[in-house]
Amino acid sequence: MLNFDFHNPTQILFGQGQIAAITPLVPAGARVLMLYGGGSIKRNGVYEEVKAALSGHTVIEFAGIEPNPHYETLMKAVAIVKAEKIDFLLAVGGGSVIDGTKFVAAAALFGEEDPWLILKKGGANINAALPFGSVLTLPATGSEMNAASVVTRAATQEKRAFHSRHVFPKFSVLDPSKTFTLPLRQVGNGVVDAFVHVMEQYLTYPVNAPVQDRWAEGLLLTLIEEGPKTLSEPENLDVRANVMWSATMALNGVIGVGVPQDWATHMIGHELTALYQLDHAQTLAVVLPGILTVRKEAKRAKLLQYAARVWGISEGDEDSRIAAAIARTRSFFEQMGVPTRLSGYGLDASAIDAVVAALEAHKLVKLGEHRDVDAAAARAALELSL
Ligand code: NZQ
Ligand code: ZN
Repeated sequence: MLNFDFHNPTQILFGQGQIAAITPLVPAGARVLMLYGGGSIKRNGVYEEVKAALSGHTVIEFAGIEPNPHYETLMKAVAIVKAEKIDFLLAVGGGSVIDGTKFVAAAALFGEEDPWLILKKGGANINAALPFGSVLTLPATGSEMNAASVVTRAATQEKRAFHSRHVFPKFSVLDPSKTFTLPLRQVGNGVVDAFVHVMEQYLTYPVNAPVQDRWAEGLLLTLIEEGPKTLSEPENLDVRANVMWSATMALNGVIGVGVPQDWATHMIGHELTALYQLDHAQTLAVVLPGILTVRKEAKRAKLLQYAARVWGISEGDEDSRIAAAIARTRSFFEQMGVPTRLSGYGLDASAIDAVVAALEAHKLVKLGEHRDVDAAAARAALELSL
């Protein structure tokens, strides 16, 4: 196992009715900015419950954070934070709202420099951020319990991530009953995103870390068992709860300690979203099967472990077991309603040229756990999903 330094201070309030419990967690006397998206929270009771919980606080609202949150939109929120002397933020929504809130929290205290530098430096230049909490409505990203954020600059079609220990949520509410109103597309997206988060941390090469491996395999098996049930039994609260906790555990840092990490699929996928507006998870469903195939030799030991322990594949020679595990992965994504081929989104080979050019322009040509996913490897992976 590799050395590690693990820190996760986010308090989790899990279960039905937990929104009411945030009242004492928001400092009395705080001037709160409540940030949310396009209005889903007004259709499922979340908005009213949050307002009731904060009825004793001063609350100003900022609506309209879009999926793949835009820097341009978030800078408007930063201006409100400064003008209204806001000292606590509350994100209410999916990963985009929480990620956007993290950026606002950091940008509000960034001083006189251009806040886009936060994204350019990946967050290394953040020295402080406003405190914030979250109420999660879409299990997928893990943003509710991690220190990462992804922001898109619409004007330049750049989608960039940053990380900083200053942007862990102080608390996050996970009420699985609030996910009942999710469109099936977002349910499928969430399961696929969480699944790929586990794969990015698990499917690399062995470092004798059986705790992390079995934790990761437990999450993958849970998502494979419970994910399809969210589609067939959408009102099943237990299923929703298990998917929600799986997604949080997939990217709160626990399974990634002390092991090599990949993230090539995510970096390539971000370019697909920036160029063609695919949903985040849709890009992952397209890229991951190809990446696993192209990097088969470097990942061989873990691919065989994955085939055996997650998919129960024990027949045939090594190459056929690996091919079968990758095929099962692709069909699981399809089963969740997320197409795994570029053609499923109306794209053809010209999209591959554009993605590869963007990776080169953004100097993202040494990806993966061995830094050997270059432009040619990214192209080869995408060509397998035409
Ligand atoms: O905007 P509203 O009206 O709220 O509607 C949203 C949005 O249209 C809707 N929605 C959310 N909860 C709902 C609901 N609709 C009905 N009922 C509910 N309960 O769902 C749509 C998508 O929301 P969004 O927040 O964009 O989805 P998601 O949570 O998948 O977040 C995706 C973003 O997170 C980033 C992605 O790149 C993307 O920008 N990621 C963040 C990560 C992190 N912070 O660690 C890691 C991930 O890999 C990912 O990159
Ligand atoms: Zn993701």
